[in-house]
Amino acid sequence: MTEQFQKQLDDYFEFLRFPSISTASEHAGDVRACGDWLVGKLGGMGMSVELHETPGYPVVVARNAHREGLNTVLIYGHYDVQPVDPLELWDSGPFEPELRDGRVWARGATDNKGQMMTHVLGVEQMLSERGELPVNLIFLFEGEEEIGSPNLVPFLESHKEELACDIIAVSDTGMVARGVPTMGYGLRGIACCEVTVRGPKGDLHSGLYGGAVANPATAVARLVASLHDADGNIAIDGFYDDVKPLEDWEREMWAQVPGVTREDILDTTGSPDVFGEPGYSSAERLWARPTAEVNGIGAGYQGEGSKTVLPAEAMAKFSFRLVPNQDPKDIAEKVEAHLIKHAPAGVSVEVHAGHDGKPYYADPNSAFGKAGQVALEKAFGKKPVLIREGGSIPIIKDMQDILGADSLLLGLALPDCQIHAPNENFYVENFEGGIRMSQVLLDELSKVE
Ligand code: BES
Ligand code: ZN
Repeated sequence: MTEQFQKQLDDYFEFLRFPSISTASEHAGDVRACGDWLVGKLGGMGMSVELHETPGYPVVVARNAHREGLNTVLIYGHYDVQPVDPLELWDSGPFEPELRDGRVWARGATDNKGQMMTHVLGVEQMLSERGELPVNLIFLFEGEEEIGSPNLVPFLESHKEELACDIIAVSDTGMVARGVPTMGYGLRGIACCEVTVRGPKGDLHSGLYGGAVANPATAVARLVASLHDADGNIAIDGFYDDVKPLEDWEREMWAQVPGVTREDILDTTGSPDVFGEPGYSSAERLWARPTAEVNGIGAGYQGEGSKTVLPAEAMAKFSFRLVPNQDPKDIAEKVEAHLIKHAPAGVSVEVHAGHDGKPYYADPNSAFGKAGQVALEKAFGKKPVLIREGGSIPIIKDMQDILGADSLLLGLALPDCQIHAPNENFYVENFEGGIRMSQVLLDELSKVE
């Protein structure tokens, strides 16, 4: 290992040691400390850095010395991470990074500290070797992505001029398989909601009242089941109205993409079979079709043995992944209308909308898109595959709308990186590759007219 690479790993490990969990208020101090560390790191590289307070966690903005006539590139990332539970399933401490078997193991190793660090370190290397960058660069790092970026849209709106840019680069997505450079040109959006079903005023003896009073647990199960037909199509009125149909070129292109065959999916997920909307491949189901997913369901007795209870209440949490040109607010209304319409007799149904985000799409073969593809090819020695992503980064569409710039999604996460789960890890080869890629990327983006 070169001395330079060891230093880069040391920086990365330091960054990983902050338990910057944005959902957990007891970690508020750690999220802030992590943001402060970034300010120090970027300042030490000779960039001018600002820490902007928001009603939540601070936004960190850094820039090099901008020069007239150069393209302006904004690189986005997030320094907050997901919670670590269940802790007992980790093989090493989530905030005690370890290098084992060619991977770095820690919460945030991939999502997103590892991926965003490759850009920071790539820029540091370029600045130290050349003294300047070939582009005007803006780093925009937030601490609230994992809670839906509640304060970033107002920040973008109030700092539109300072953040004006020609193109955005983001490494917070995936690579379809090891050694297969991947550029994303779409993201699914999301709409979340929660339904509460109420029956009697308190739990009842199921012998004394069962059969004469509706059971909320049965009712919630019926509601969950009403979302799909038997084939897996979503059965909500108007749900597919605004779905942008898949283009032939996408279907042909995705049929050649590795990492998403039935076998690949069974291998990474351990499921007994694949399932989904008839008429679409797994890749198409993941990247270009919307979903209705139950994330949680609860009611009644769940302890040992049986308890003859008729529960007073039941609940379910849903999220709907959306594709262009579905609108999360419109879908939330359609979902609520569906749940109310399908409310079984004898119970009351209440629906609460949760957070949402719009789907994103951009032309992968625009001039900047082509430059992104060249950078991936030069850094990883192979032509990249072009995909849309199943996950969501809501701010990407907001940046397209507010700043008028598209995002190149240069993902470095592999299917077994376990983001959001125990034993999250990042392949060292992708950490190294990312540092290389970020430098080639700036050179390629600088050439776009
Ligand atoms: N980095 C992920 C999103 C992602 C991962 C996109 C892999 C594509 C491929 C991000 O941190 C995330 O998990 N986002 C949430 C958004 C939600 C909280 C609004 C998601 O997708 O569930
Ligand atoms: Zn992320």
